[in-house]
Amino acid sequence: MSLSEIAKGISPSPTLALNEKFAILREKGDPVIHLGGGEPKSKAPMEAIMATVAHLNTGEIRYAPADGTREMKQAVIRYTEEYYGRKVQPENVMISSGAKQALMVAMQAILNPQEEILFPAPYWVSYPEMPKLAGAIGIPVYPEDGSFYPRLQDFEQRVWPYTKAIILNSPNNPSGVIYSKEFVAEVVEFCEKKNLYLIMDDIYHRLVFEGNKAANAYEFAKDHSENSKLIIINGVSKQYAMTGFRIGWAVASKKLIETMTNIQGHQTSGPSILLQKAAVGAMNGIQSGVENLRMTLENNRNIMIDYLKSFEGVHVTVPQGTFYCLADFSNYMKDSSKLSNFLIDKVQVLTMPGVEFGMEGHLRLSYCGSIKDITEGIERMKWALDLNSPNELYIGDRKLVRDWT
Ligand SMILES: Cc1ncc(COP(=O)(O)O)c(C=O)c1O
Repeated sequence: MSLSEIAKGISPSPTLALNEKFAILREKGDPVIHLGGGEPKSKAPMEAIMATVAHLNTGEIRYAPADGTREMKQAVIRYTEEYYGRKVQPENVMISSGAKQALMVAMQAILNPQEEILFPAPYWVSYPEMPKLAGAIGIPVYPEDGSFYPRLQDFEQRVWPYTKAIILNSPNNPSGVIYSKEFVAEVVEFCEKKNLYLIMDDIYHRLVFEGNKAANAYEFAKDHSENSKLIIINGVSKQYAMTGFRIGWAVASKKLIETMTNIQGHQTSGPSILLQKAAVGAMNGIQSGVENLRMTLENNRNIMIDYLKSFEGVHVTVPQGTFYCLADFSNYMKDSSKLSNFLIDKVQVLTMPGVEFGMEGHLRLSYCGSIKDITEGIERMKWALDLNSPNELYIGDRKLVRDWT
């Protein structure tokens, strides 16, 4: 079949593929545990549901403006003032179908073919693929000290005339680490000096633990003019447990938002009016759900980390936010895809191979599920990997017998 070179270069989403595998095993009735998920289990806020139903009941479900509804933009303006301390105008805001679309449209608006966009490793699986859709190139930058904490010099060494932008995601998917204020300040200053775009993917910024705070890039920006190349991406998916509503946004200079709106207008038009109503409901409603989710995640993280520490061969950097931790299992198996498949096949626990996030030898484990799934999932993993554990394991009334060494 004749396909475009760009299309042929795009890899399938590994996370979506593993989700499908999980669904098939579940359907078969297998007692599979999902430690790979990227969405909270809590329900969407009541205000989101009520706002959607109220609008649905009007029976008049029309197109929304290409850059989002006025009320949704107002909700983002209020949000930006409250959480970033920055006043922006409606012309600085574009609403998209998820943060994913906001990121993609931003890249299409700023990247020429062959230009490069840098991001720290480990990275979210879509960062290397999205620039390809714009004919551009995503370049992971590995912290020289082998940690999950990048330093400015790691980036300085990689910047050349083809570099157009840097993306930071903090707290970070997949590692859960929060980049220090000093680092974010340095990157903001560096991008302003080098005339680079800086995209802050803040999708997890309220899901932080132990009083830690994700740095607010506006705080360090010197250029607050309409020439600013700072782009803030956020959305309702994670913080409000509204992944299926597909609403995210970008805040940037008027010129860039105008250009992004032109692109989005031809691609998809504005996101569904119903789903924007839902997002406005959530953002203007009672915020206790976000705090409940944050506390649940912190508690789940503590449980997961305690269990992981009981493994002899696992090294883990304690996450400071998100739903994820990226643990080093290379003492057991160097190839993370093989290890992930081994764990599904032997003990029916689904994990995400670190190689997909640029970190071979690691597994991304999610703690957004139930405590039962976390504890049972990790116990099964331990049984499979620790050859000193008993030869048999019961999952319900199924007996597993170790047939590997
Ligand atoms: C780092 C990061 N950015 C963006 C997104 C996309 O979020 P949305 O559901 O709003 O498209 C995700 C979702 O997994 C993510 O992990």
